[in-house]
Amino acid sequence: MRIRNKALRSKIMSAPDAARLITHGSTVGMSGFTGSGYPKAVPLALAAHMEEQRSAGDPFKVRMWTGASTGPELDGALAKADGIEMRLPYNSDPIAREKINSGQMNYFDMHLSQVAPMAWQGFLGPLDTAVIEVTGIREDGSLIPSSSVGNNKTWLDRAEKVILEVNSWQSEALEGVHDIYYGTALPPARIPIPLTRPDQRIGEDCLRVDPDKVVAVVETDSPDRNAPFTPPDDKAKMIAGHILEFLKHEVKVGRVPKELLPIQSGVGNIANAVLTGLMDAPFEGMTAYTEVIQDGMLDLLASGKLRMASATAFSLSPQAAERVNREMSFFRDKMILRPQEISNHPELVRRLGCIAMNGLIEADIYGAVNSTHVMGSRIQNGIGGSGDFARNAFISIFVTPSTAKNGAISAIVPQASHVDHINQDVQVIVTEQGLADLRGLSPKERARVIIANCAHPDYRPMLEDYFARAQKQSYGLQSPMIPSEALSWHQRFIDTGSMMP
Ligand code: COA
Repeated sequence: MRIRNKALRSKIMSAPDAARLITHGSTVGMSGFTGSGYPKAVPLALAAHMEEQRSAGDPFKVRMWTGASTGPELDGALAKADGIEMRLPYNSDPIAREKINSGQMNYFDMHLSQVAPMAWQGFLGPLDTAVIEVTGIREDGSLIPSSSVGNNKTWLDRAEKVILEVNSWQSEALEGVHDIYYGTALPPARIPIPLTRPDQRIGEDCLRVDPDKVVAVVETDSPDRNAPFTPPDDKAKMIAGHILEFLKHEVKVGRVPKELLPIQSGVGNIANAVLTGLMDAPFEGMTAYTEVIQDGMLDLLASGKLRMASATAFSLSPQAAERVNREMSFFRDKMILRPQEISNHPELVRRLGCIAMNGLIEADIYGAVNSTHVMGSRIQNGIGGSGDFARNAFISIFVTPSTAKNGAISAIVPQASHVDHINQDVQVIVTEQGLADLRGLSPKERARVIIANCAHPDYRPMLEDYFARAQKQSYGLQSPMIPSEALSWHQRFIDTGSMMP
């Protein structure tokens, strides 16, 4: 039996009844992180209620906080019903993205490590309702978390009322995988987080909730719905190859130990290709201190090349999610799922010395990185945890194909149209063309290496020409630029559909 606490068992009700406890204009904290562990039934019922209200000319909207992206039954359904007034943090749902970019939905894109602290600091306002998916409820009322932890601890603590979804699709063997740290505090009472190794447990294996705050318990049996990964294409394999050569070199010259340092791997197909590539690399006994456990990590864990992985959630393709569910008894002592304020904590990322690898949308010739906004204004996803890791990593690597949209866009541009990661937070840039090691280089040196090693040959002469002229015309010569031309490639794309003249 999944619900073993008597008092909470008496609160079982249907999803539509539970959804009616959420009111128009309220703030709802949902569980969920990259398509795992999000509530599936209550949001769908809430969306249906919102649609009815909208047809009756009486709009119903909520402010929504999550861990990160969720699934179509949550973000997709609520966005489609025009039911989200404001959302934070990371979103990757296409319907919500469209609503944000057409100005119909407000979106506050935050560093993922900062969401829980900011909620505690009172910066985000009050939280009315938490809707949290769990794997089960123990006799004592403590909650066995599901496939993501995200901000659940904070939502359960801060919300005035709590709705629990108990999902029997989640493997019962998840019990014991989680490590929920209850030692965070507000300044001036904050103390160091006592974690010095990725495999260390510093908290409890369950979430606490005040049973009096629980207003509904809903039973579900629904799979997590992550997007499938496409198998690594040639470009992704080339990027992975450059990174593996680079890491081997770092080991050879003694800057990185032979089992590497804890790996952080961002979202997307290239990150997954790098992980797949590590299967054939000469590193044994690796660890991961990262945000999500991805497909590519499963074989590494199974082979023992990856000793353990610490994260806040699974981000698995449907097949991989089924595999983890089936083989959870094997994987459980090789994985730890923590709150995202711990998995992404800058203090811990710096202390452990993570090797961070994240995707980018565009980088400029000096190495400033745009991870979020296409043509400077259209949100793609969000900054996610990339800032938490990039600034504090032992080595901060960013990856991208050198062009996008069949060559109509260069990923290396004279000036980034939006900056998420400043030059100082970007140490290595990798495209299928090659790798630019920017450590210790001045801006002009960085520009030469980025243009030579990373730009696509179709765009390289244009970048060389811009950089040469900038060095003659620039107001100053520390980071030469021609302001009237710096964003002209973007304007050309908006006007003509291509950055090529
Ligand atoms: N201009 C316009 N569009 C671009 C682009 C550019 N310079 N670069 C990428 N894109 C588009 C792609 O065409 C693709 O669009 P599509 O879905 O319509 O085909 C989309 O962005 C994704 O790009 P893709 O090449 O498939 O890369 P990805 O899956 O590796 O994602 C990011 C790249 C940057 C969008 C992704 O890594 C991200 O959201 N990063 C920010 C969050 C983050 O780093 N999280 C990890 C922290 S732990």
